[in-house]
Amino acid sequence: MTLSATHPLMDGRTADSPLITAYRGGRPSRRPVWFMRQAGRSLPEYRRVREGISMLDSCLDPKLAAEITLQPVRRHDVDAGIFFSDIVIPLRLAGVDVDIVPGVGPVLGTPVRTLADVQALPELDDAALEPIREAVRLTVDELGGTPLIGFAGAPFTLAAYMVEGRPSRDHLGPRTMMHADPEAWAALTDWAADASGRFLRAQVEAGASAAQLFDSWAGSLSEADYRAYAAPASTRALDHVRGLGAPLVHFGTGTSELLPAMRDVGVDVVGVDYRLPLDEADRRLGHSVALQGNIDPALLSAPWEVLEAHVRTVLAAGESAPGHVVNLGHGVPPETDPEVLTRVVELIHSVEP
Ligand code: CP3
Repeated sequence: MTLSATHPLMDGRTADSPLITAYRGGRPSRRPVWFMRQAGRSLPEYRRVREGISMLDSCLDPKLAAEITLQPVRRHDVDAGIFFSDIVIPLRLAGVDVDIVPGVGPVLGTPVRTLADVQALPELDDAALEPIREAVRLTVDELGGTPLIGFAGAPFTLAAYMVEGRPSRDHLGPRTMMHADPEAWAALTDWAADASGRFLRAQVEAGASAAQLFDSWAGSLSEADYRAYAAPASTRALDHVRGLGAPLVHFGTGTSELLPAMRDVGVDVVGVDYRLPLDEADRRLGHSVALQGNIDPALLSAPWEVLEAHVRTVLAAGESAPGHVVNLGHGVPPETDPEVLTRVVELIHSVEP
């Protein structure tokens, strides 16, 4: 399979954009920047359009999902849109009883803890992904030369929610299961890999120019456990979009010790959280991939002078990497002043690349 001739990456719209150039290890005309969770609660226009409609229902309304994806691009002049959706959307589309409870996060009606539970999971049918493809098409029609980044949750992070049934801090359930019942664990992460992989592929085929795998909770694993029990399914998820020409990005938090292992699932770009300077990340990775990151989200609420100095430090630390896309070291906090984000983008674009 190849992308269609009218895909933004193939028809000249995004292939030479600053984002795609940096993801491919080149030096673009300006340092590209986007923000994880840029589409969301920090924007008043987001809160307005979300009134009276649940999180997952808004993801499945193509016009609304496209509008929310476009809002931060219009407002901040960022170098990419990140598709407005959620890592549990493939579960919902497969028919799993899951919801996002405001202020809590993903909650499942029935946690998945045994091989029999895994075997009872419904398959995600490709036809169910039509609202996703439609939302992506509507979005890229408006984005023009600005690339859309598609995303999915990595199998470990998805499985962590599925086993616990809700968010948890230390992920004891999944970490026990991978050792106590490796057969059920492998079946669960393979199921999650294919659900996430199909979700990702729908986005890339419909017009996303890059794809990011979010393994938000990978940092709770040792490197040995990560390599044995998480990485193989992440490779499997990415196999669904490998070779299409869209750069692949991999991000998790608390992953300073896992960066080479996360690269080794087969990606072009590694996202670095705020804990590790980018020049040190580049050293640990042997200067092998482009980097994305890593402004500390906490500093978005600091005085401007403090934030500006920090952003300049991040830009300088990113210079040694084969390519650098600026981002936060995790998502935009909901209480962030959106004008600060706009000013950060202006600052980054004003600095010589
Ligand atoms: O701007 C963007 O980044 C685009 C959309 C996006 C959302 N979720 C929208 C969302 C993306 C990329 C995600 C990914 C996601 N979802 C991750 C990986 C990234 C990360 O933050 O580590 C995870 C772990 C989830 C699961 C999830 N969904 C959580 C933990 C929450 C927060 C729950 C809460 O209310 O505090 C969500 C809800 C969610 N996903 C919101 C948004 C905009 C907030 C819901 C709302 O606005 O009411």
